[in-house]
Amino acid sequence: MEAARPSRTALRVALRRAAHQLYDRPLVFEDPFAIPILGNEHAEELHRTPNPDANRKQRPSSLAMRAHLVARSRYAEEKLAAAAADGATQYVLLGAGLDTFAHRNPWPHLRVFEVDHPATQAWKRNLLAQSGLPHPLSLTYAPVDFECESLPDRLLAAGFDPAQKTFFAWLGVVPYLTIEAFRSTIRFIAAQPRGSGIVLDYGQPRRVLPFLEQLAHDSLAARVALAGEPFRLWFTPSEAACELEEFRLIEDLGADEINSLYFANRTDDLRMRGHGGRFLSAWL
Ligand SMILES: C[S@@+](CC[C@H](N)C(=O)[O-])C[C@H]1O[C@@H](n2cnc3c(N)ncnc32)[C@H](O)[C@@H]1O
Repeated sequence: MEAARPSRTALRVALRRAAHQLYDRPLVFEDPFAIPILGNEHAEELHRTPNPDANRKQRPSSLAMRAHLVARSRYAEEKLAAAAADGATQYVLLGAGLDTFAHRNPWPHLRVFEVDHPATQAWKRNLLAQSGLPHPLSLTYAPVDFECESLPDRLLAAGFDPAQKTFFAWLGVVPYLTIEAFRSTIRFIAAQPRGSGIVLDYGQPRRVLPFLEQLAHDSLAARVALAGEPFRLWFTPSEAACELEEFRLIEDLGADEINSLYFANRTDDLRMRGHGGRFLSAWL
């Protein structure tokens, strides 16, 4: 991504989480701060996002994207809850964007580290200051560019304790990285204490998708490239498993499994589609 500019894709996904709070019932991912964090600056944009009540012919692709985004946050926080119950005392959000977990953290013993590209993090902090949301005592910011800065150095400088069991979330970031940046981050996580874990999402390469999904893939890839954040990294499930060979209990879910977990029995069309996006969790 461009060094001096906050991530536009972070804003787009945050707008969709906020739209979910407004338009979808039942909620799959309840986030009372999803709208306030956007501030006045982006409120107008939020109200321009498609409203199913106003437009019954809402495009399936935009519902599928919203479903993907809210399900991945829910999945991540369910895995975090399991980690916290098992004694994790640190939660590291890699590429945190406008994630609001730190403002909803129910575990007094859980320290939260938000790692993000410096320009995105400065923008988020500015939005939070404008919205008047108080700074949670358990939250520490660590600005890092995964491509050219050391994640361990920045986290240690921020007070991260490498002796503690830690849970990492890496949501909506992997496709934007080089393989080198991905691997060096995975190596760092794999060196954490036993019982630590990770959740991430990744996309499958175009070549393994059916024809119509290749077109949807091209359209999304063109949009993020226009936003200055081109996709660069894809995995098949077996490639992802190879990258994570030091981890155990790998759970790697496709759309069908995610739909039965979070979107069964709905009367609207909110659900994931296609075979591109997958959610993965793994433990040490
Ligand atoms: C699509 S957003 C996802 C944000 C957040 N995880 C969420 O789900 O709302 C991508 C995030 O990755 C971060 N990112 C992309 N490339 C990065 C890099 N090289 N170093 C650090 N952060 C990066 C962006 O700043 C942005 O916050």
